[in-house]
Amino acid sequence: MKTKIAGIGKYLPKRVVTNQELTTYMDTTNEWIIERTGIEERRYAEKHKETPTTMAAAAARIAIERAGITPEDIDFIIFATLSPDYYFPGCGVLLQRELGLTKTEIGALDIRNQCTGFVYGMSVADQFIKTGMYKNILLVGSEMHSMGLDFSDEGRAVTVIFGDGAGAVVLQPTDKENQGILNTVLHSDGTHAEELAMINPGSHGGYHLGPEKFGYPDPSIPGGVFVTQKMVDDNMLTPNMTGQLVFKNAVVKFPEVIKEGLAKAGLEKEDIDLLVPHQANLRISQFVQKVMGLPDEKVVNNIQKYGNTTAASIPIALCEAYEDGRIKEGDLVCLAAFGSGFTWGSVLVRW
Ligand code: ACO
Repeated sequence: MKTKIAGIGKYLPKRVVTNQELTTYMDTTNEWIIERTGIEERRYAEKHKETPTTMAAAAARIAIERAGITPEDIDFIIFATLSPDYYFPGCGVLLQRELGLTKTEIGALDIRNQCTGFVYGMSVADQFIKTGMYKNILLVGSEMHSMGLDFSDEGRAVTVIFGDGAGAVVLQPTDKENQGILNTVLHSDGTHAEELAMINPGSHGGYHLGPEKFGYPDPSIPGGVFVTQKMVDDNMLTPNMTGQLVFKNAVVKFPEVIKEGLAKAGLEKEDIDLLVPHQANLRISQFVQKVMGLPDEKVVNNIQKYGNTTAASIPIALCEAYEDGRIKEGDLVCLAAFGSGFTWGSVLVRW
């Protein structure tokens, strides 16, 4: 038994935020953003109305309908996000409630693997399906970055990159020979955990094991306090990213993990019909495309329109490719991601 993608859906908030709009909040330019990231615009969710969970539900409803099932058929939920509605509980149970599935009392799992969350989720779901434990897994990636970004000049290198949105798939067993997930590859290396991170608020209480350059241990943050006034006053409640280090690692690890998956499946890079990379940065994807020697029509890039939507970027890009008729039955589709942690991974799937 293998795992197939039976249905797929996406949701992008209506509000388009152009690079030009960002120049009204911070010292940046349309040219800088396009040159370094390829991003032209991104979407921001409507505050007080949309959340990562409501966006996930919108994407999920489409995926469920396309899978030809009803929400009540879902027997497990996996939710990947770094921007959850609440610190706890996770979005899995919130999505279950939003979809009206509390009576079915199905399990709900939350994944905290940032840009790699969807790929990790695919791998987890694949194991459950292959063992026969579940038959209709709903996997979603959803992010609402716009709530947590720093719109001052200080935060510009990070803020211009990220956008909001959600993507979802329904995963089911298949016994067709030429269909389903061939393999998943997962990796991590915590050496650079703080280089692409949001450290505060947190339970570190002024102490963590990362490099001193991040300003810890900080005795002014009393142990046992999750969020302090100092964090608010010193603008410490925002993500930080050492962009060039991320870039250098991403362009090595993306091709590595794609090749590892191909080798495990006894396939060559020429066998790939469509590569759907995590939409981190257009320059990273172009670099990976070049290293892999893939033509333009075999690589999905939509970061220009949506920015980097972290755990949502792969299902959104995959869904868009599907809706555009770029995937046909039997195609070898490769999903690959690299991100905070660092974590990285790939999924090879026959459509
Ligand atoms: N607008 C204008 N200028 C800016 C901006 C901005 N938004 N952001 C930074 N700058 C300035 C910097 O202040 C710096 O100025 P200085 O030379 O006067 O000090 C200059 O631009 C260059 O800054 P760098 O950080 O060195 O710029 P770099 O060329 O590395 O580009 C970027 C930054 C785009 C973040 C790049 O490092 C990158 O793409 N890294 C990969 C990170 C990434 O893709 N992250 C995505 C999330 S993680 C993931 O999904 C894997």
